[in-house]
Amino acid sequence: MNLKLLFFCLVLLVLAIPAELKREKRHIRHGWHGHVQRHGHAKHIKKYGRYMDFIQDYFFQLVDVDDDDDDDDDNNPDWILKIQGPAGQCNPNPCLNNGVCEERGWRIFRCDCPEPFKGRKCERVPKICKRGLCGRGECVLTSTPPFYECKCKKPFVPPHCDSVMVCNPNPCANGGICIRDGMDFDCECPPGFTGRFCHVGPNDCYIGDGESYRGNVSETDDGDECLYWNSHFILEEGIDPFSSYKNNDGLGPHNFCRNPDGDSMPWCFIRRGRKLLWDYCDVTECRGPTAVPPPKAPTEAPTKAPIVPPRPQPTQASSRLSTEKPTEALAPLPKPTEVTDQTTTEPQQFSTCGKSQPKKSFKRIFGGLKVSPGTHPWQVSVQTRKKGSNHGYSHICGGVLIDSCWVLTAGHCIDNNYDMEVVTGSVSLDSDEPTEQTLQVEDAIIHENYREAPDAVYNDIGLLKLKGRDGTCANETQFVKAACLPDITLPDGMECTISGWGATEQSAFGSNHLLDAKVMLINHEKCSEKKIYGSVLDNSMLCAGHLQGGVDSCQGDSGGPLTCDQHGSHVIYGLVSWGDQCGRKLKPGVYTRVTNFLDWIKAKKRAIST
Ligand code: ARG
Repeated sequence: MNLKLLFFCLVLLVLAIPAELKREKRHIRHGWHGHVQRHGHAKHIKKYGRYMDFIQDYFFQLVDVDDDDDDDDDNNPDWILKIQGPAGQCNPNPCLNNGVCEERGWRIFRCDCPEPFKGRKCERVPKICKRGLCGRGECVLTSTPPFYECKCKKPFVPPHCDSVMVCNPNPCANGGICIRDGMDFDCECPPGFTGRFCHVGPNDCYIGDGESYRGNVSETDDGDECLYWNSHFILEEGIDPFSSYKNNDGLGPHNFCRNPDGDSMPWCFIRRGRKLLWDYCDVTECRGPTAVPPPKAPTEAPTKAPIVPPRPQPTQASSRLSTEKPTEALAPLPKPTEVTDQTTTEPQQFSTCGKSQPKKSFKRIFGGLKVSPGTHPWQVSVQTRKKGSNHGYSHICGGVLIDSCWVLTAGHCIDNNYDMEVVTGSVSLDSDEPTEQTLQVEDAIIHENYREAPDAVYNDIGLLKLKGRDGTCANETQFVKAACLPDITLPDGMECTISGWGATEQSAFGSNHLLDAKVMLINHEKCSEKKIYGSVLDNSMLCAGHLQGGVDSCQGDSGGPLTCDQHGSHVIYGLVSWGDQCGRKLKPGVYTRVTNFLDWIKAKKRAIST
């Protein structure tokens, strides 16, 4: 009996071990880096991008272009914009992407959109690269009609990338000889030239981290062919390399490896099935002091600038949980004031404000986006512990870095019975990240008129002065930057960004990873309607969110940023303050209206610095 059992166990073990090894290997090959999976390391296991791969690839099937497969269905219909209460004026211009605004009576405007943009505010681009449009070729987006171009996968040839011409014309560059192999081909390259098409010259190499690399390598370590930087496949994943990375001048309508985001060497995006991945490139590092500068870039003139479709919007609630339920009227609602102060910026220790340089890209998660390091470099975690205790600090609120030594947060986040510190440059609260900087709080100032009422919180703003040396506290890095202070009132209906580690639908105690979401600025009178917040609102507050419910900030996000784009920079327009629970219909988030406190911020900074 025991022998039988032993034998049975042995059989099980023999069966289980290879399965386990296989799983382990798969796991390693698909390890995470950033948030788009990096493809694994095994060198040249397979030559990708050959005739049979294209024939079998779902995206390169020769199907009729499906006209119904249009994203023109209104996922952001006009009625939503109407209930958000857009101001309806053309000044400032509510039309995006160079749309021309026309006023059509009180509160009504019309945007005349340049092609190919559509939507009430020219915010949408129809899905141009439909499956089948480019046959066995990659569809890339361009800025001139017809707004796409097909890059045929050789040996498939234009115009439709559906017929094959092997070795004729010669696909091999630099005098390479094309050797036919059935429906496929190989290039025999002259000495010194490499790459599938002999398109990589002998001096093609990168220096340092490859940020300046402008060579022609377009294959990864594993032999995958790089996607074009303006490939619809990347843009449709919600990643826009052209606006996401600071060092984007090497990017263009080509598929050469680059390092636009401060990685350690040139890399590129690749596609495996329906998955977007990235990998380091098969590019050589320049050797020795005689290293030749990298060869001059694209053989293909970048005549057409890529266009960028709007990022997909998160559709679910980002958060749950909240404070008290407001009832009715408290104070009469003062008229929101127009901001007149145009000189909002004090001399700053930081060289810039409002510009982010995120690493690689974004992974969509339920209800919000898990953000990558550097996306909201002004976001801080405000952490506390009981005064005098030697316990660890824990996250209590968000905050916003506005200069090397100054953090804005909500007034209700400050409690003088607690010691405070802030963590900057972090996305993950449960791990020590090399990008983070922890700073002690030297002074915590609550607004003099801060007031908590049963139904609302008034003047909910505070300033934290950080401890530093010689006027420097946080060091400016790719991951730690200041947000700019706004200097104008922004239009209702404008889309802005919130971020934080607060409660979500799945985690009532908050998220370990920084999340973000898009919200719209809601008209103040609209938000003061009886069925929304009634007369408890005053001009120290602003509403933002989606009146139909869903995306919202929540408990633990307080004090954190609502940033909006002003002339291409992120300005800190609101601080998460309160709301009637989270994500509820007709109960949007209420934020501290930062434009109301510009003079206060200036005065406090000046008083304490001197
Ligand atoms: N008071 C909350 C906090 O301290 C923020 C609540 C925001 N609520 C909302 N529905 N947006 O974290």
